[in-house]
Amino acid sequence: MREPSVSFHDHWDRVYDSSDVDKLGWWEAVPEKSLHLIRRCGLGKDDLILDIGTGASTLIDRLLDDGHRNIIASDISEKALQALKHRLGPERASRVTWIVDDVTRPQHLCHLRDVCLWHDRAVLHFLTEEPHRQAYLNTLRAVLKVEGFAVIAAFHLTGADKCSGLPVRKYDETLLAEFLGEDFLLEDHFQYTYHTPLGSPRPYIYTRFRRLR
Ligand SMILES: C[S@@+](CC[C@H](N)C(=O)[O-])C[C@H]1O[C@@H](n2cnc3c(N)ncnc32)[C@H](O)[C@@H]1O
Repeated sequence: MREPSVSFHDHWDRVYDSSDVDKLGWWEAVPEKSLHLIRRCGLGKDDLILDIGTGASTLIDRLLDDGHRNIIASDISEKALQALKHRLGPERASRVTWIVDDVTRPQHLCHLRDVCLWHDRAVLHFLTEEPHRQAYLNTLRAVLKVEGFAVIAAFHLTGADKCSGLPVRKYDETLLAEFLGEDFLLEDHFQYTYHTPLGSPRPYIYTRFRRLR
């Protein structure tokens, strides 16, 4: 089995070092589909939101615009989070908690509790090996409160086999529900085909689960 932290960390730092963030194959000027599902959770402005594998996503900008005051941006790549901090500027960046960590071998994420929303767009599908998937799930289960939500978007079964040069494991809503297990209720799902900045179609499955117990 590949050691995730070292190789993944180097890979992702190189990715964010070598390209403008708005040229990356997952860049969204407005993360509309994530925002749609997040708004359906009915969160309070002080509810804790944990974005896994934030990268330089504009989701954080939009959550701040929406008035959320308890946001954690986390990523395996410090370079990615630096790019995002730079875009936000010091005042807005100071309103976010920043965690550099590997969701499959967490040193910091595992100490969080009472997360009301776990958001992941385009991270889980990079975990192709079972121990890494299980480690992801263990982290999610450790930090997400009962009655909290998991919004997860991953490459759909009909999608590409690789992203950022890495193999991916693809999903539909049934596979994601099986992965999370019976403690999670699937409340929303839809397919959405995102187009990369170069115009290539990337079908995703978007899901919103509520944790029952
Ligand atoms: C395809 S990008 C998606 C970024 C962002 N979620 C978005 O939608 O724009 C995947 C992100 O996951 C991060 N990542 C990959 N593996 C990770 C891991 N094991 N733990 C934490 N973050 C990881 C990468 O550094 C990268 O920023």
